[in-house]
Amino acid sequence: MQTYFRNFLLFIILISIPFLAKSKDPVRANNGMVVSASDIASLVGVEILEKGGNAIDAAVATGFALAVTYPQAGNIGGGGFMVIHLEDGTNTTIDYREKAPQTAFRDMFLNKNGKFVLAKSTEGWLSSGIPGSVAGMLYALEKYGTMTRDEILQPAIKLASNGFIIDYRFAEALNDYKKEFERYKSTKKIFTKTDEDFTEGELLVQKDLAKTLRSIKLIGNDGFYKGEVANLIAKQSKANGGFISIEDLSNYKPIERAPILGLYRNNKIVSMGPPSSGGIALVEALNSLEMFSFENKAWGSSSYIHTVSEVLKYVFADRAEHLGDMDFYPVPQKWLISKERGKEIAALVGDKAIPSNKISHANPPAKESEETTHFSVVDSYGNAVSVTTTLNSTFGNKIVVSGAGFIMNNEMDDFSAKPGTSNQYGLLGGEANSIEPNKRMLSAMTPTIILNSEDKPFMVIGSPGGSTIITTVLQVILNVIDFNMDIQEAIDAPRFHHQWKPDRIDFEHYGMTEDVKKNLSRKGQFIGKERVLGRAEGIIIDYKNNIIWGASDPRGYGEAAGY
Ligand code: GLY
Repeated sequence: MQTYFRNFLLFIILISIPFLAKSKDPVRANNGMVVSASDIASLVGVEILEKGGNAIDAAVATGFALAVTYPQAGNIGGGGFMVIHLEDGTNTTIDYREKAPQTAFRDMFLNKNGKFVLAKSTEGWLSSGIPGSVAGMLYALEKYGTMTRDEILQPAIKLASNGFIIDYRFAEALNDYKKEFERYKSTKKIFTKTDEDFTEGELLVQKDLAKTLRSIKLIGNDGFYKGEVANLIAKQSKANGGFISIEDLSNYKPIERAPILGLYRNNKIVSMGPPSSGGIALVEALNSLEMFSFENKAWGSSSYIHTVSEVLKYVFADRAEHLGDMDFYPVPQKWLISKERGKEIAALVGDKAIPSNKISHANPPAKESEETTHFSVVDSYGNAVSVTTTLNSTFGNKIVVSGAGFIMNNEMDDFSAKPGTSNQYGLLGGEANSIEPNKRMLSAMTPTIILNSEDKPFMVIGSPGGSTIITTVLQVILNVIDFNMDIQEAIDAPRFHHQWKPDRIDFEHYGMTEDVKKNLSRKGQFIGKERVLGRAEGIIIDYKNNIIWGASDPRGYGEAAGY
């Protein structure tokens, strides 16, 4: 009897193994899907789709809702990038990255001795670029959406004015930042409680934010970039040593730009161009990796990680040297995303690691903030939208605009604060991303749409994570295209990260076995830190079975919602 029971248990365990080894199924739907870092914001987007709105309508509604329910990175005081595929085949992007104010200057974050002061570029009003999110989202809505501002903004207004129930993670986030919030009266008022901490189940009401959103709903851009809200921003900026003026705000314009296009194993990549480095770096890496076949290389093997890491070293070195706002600096975009450059890099990849110092003498960028947020949307009409948006640090510079209720970004930190400094080799770096008035700071955000051979959207993907955005998006794509994973598996799978400098491969928990580490070390790779890499939000469309699959990253707390 005992033996029978033991065998029965063993049988149960054995038949369970394939399930244990697999991620849960992605969320499935037939008509539309929204995946974002906030379950409430995803539902706002899906409701818009259900009412007949298109993916652009849903993306804009989700974006405004995130400014209420996910103020860690969702915003109206920051900026972002939107990549759009329209059912008529058009691919386009909207750049609503923040800009340096007119009075910004190259050395504004250096002290009297020419030393970079991190607190200047990350804290206080000087750290804020001119916000672009409102202008960018309204531009998208007016040009490519079908619904009114009223319909699109109303859900966010309701969430702000009636409040929403906070979950334990959001309560935890607010409590974690309590000390920083308390530095600013306006922030303290909304995001802290006097004698106690926030707990899950509480209602968070944001009356001032609701007022600002109403003003945007009523008069559009002028409700933010002119009049009362603009006055509040400019007045508080000036009173606290910041540079953003009324003119800076009224002059802000989003820019519609041609996307970065690439082809990877017959899949068309549509991604974001400068001032983001994301699309160029992604396509440069894919062009090079296309020269390798991973069929015989097991996923996660040392040989796979070595090959991808070697390619990434060249890609990130090129990024440090050549990338910045193309309106100010001649980025050699055509060369960077050419198949020739991909082949050139592939030819340099051997069995032994090339030390990063031998690859380029450019100045590596300083540490980039890893908080940002991504959302992916598809509708039933054949449109797809991929948006990454940010305040830079978690809760930006933590300053709520008093009377307007939203948090300002600290995106000025994404510029090279001290370009042109001779490094130990006497070479200059970071020029492409130096601070100049009205220039947009370099970003790593990589909102991406992948089209199938019939030019239909097959995958929508993106992630937060600073420089790890690029490696996160790249690996999710490789997991799907080269290793046939579904979108949940592709997002769940442990990732690694190499960014040329520091010369090391970072990895995730359980992401690299000791054997693999030993083999990589033998090849000359340096094993870096264990840490969380990215939080992707993705969608895949299966046209054969008419199923839309959505997946939110288990590293975050978002949700895929479809209908
Ligand atoms: N601040 C994050 C990024 O733009 O990449």
